[in-house]
Amino acid sequence: MSTNRTFTMIKPDAVANGHIGAIINDITSAGFKIIALKYTRLTAETAGAFYAVHRERPFYNDLVNFMSSGPIVAAILEKENAVEDFRKLIGATDPSKADEGTIRRKYAKSIDANAVHGSDSDENAAIEGSFFFSAFERF
Ligand code: PPS
Repeated sequence: MSTNRTFTMIKPDAVANGHIGAIINDITSAGFKIIALKYTRLTAETAGAFYAVHRERPFYNDLVNFMSSGPIVAAILEKENAVEDFRKLIGATDPSKADEGTIRRKYAKSIDANAVHGSDSDENAAIEGSFFFSAFERF
C-alpha cells in the first residue's frame, strides 16, 4: 500500500447517531480521496483481533465490546501525508481534549465512544486496510 494512505472507521456511536454523511463530508472536504469504503459490523472476535495490540490495556474488553456493538463504516483514504493529517483532522483520543473543529470534538461524546479511528503509522494503515479489504477492493 502507498505511504500516502491511511485507514479509518466511523465507529458504532457515530453511525448510530446519524453522522456517517457529515463525517465523510468532513473527510473529503479536507482533501482525502476515498479508495475503499465498506458498511459492516465487527464481531467480538474480529474486533478483538483488530485491537489485539491493546489487549493488555485496562480498557481492552470495553473497547472490543463497544466496537462490536453496532455497524461501522471502514475506509481507506489517500492524501499526501495521510496518516498524520488524518490524525489532526480527527483530533485527540479524548474528545473533550480535541481541538475545536476536529471530527471527534464535533461528533464524539466520550473517550470510549469517540466517533472515529485513524491509523497511527503507515505500517498500521497498510495492516488495517488489509484487515477489511481484499486486494481487489483497495486498488
Ligand atoms: S492511539 O491511537 O493508540 O494513540 O490511542 P490510545 O489512546 O493508545 O488508544 C488506543 C485505542 O483505544 C481507545 N481507547 C479507549 N477505549 C475505551 N476506553 C478508554 N478509556 C479508551 N482509551 C483509549 C482509543 O480510542 C484507541 O482506539 P482507536 O480505534 O484507535 O481510536
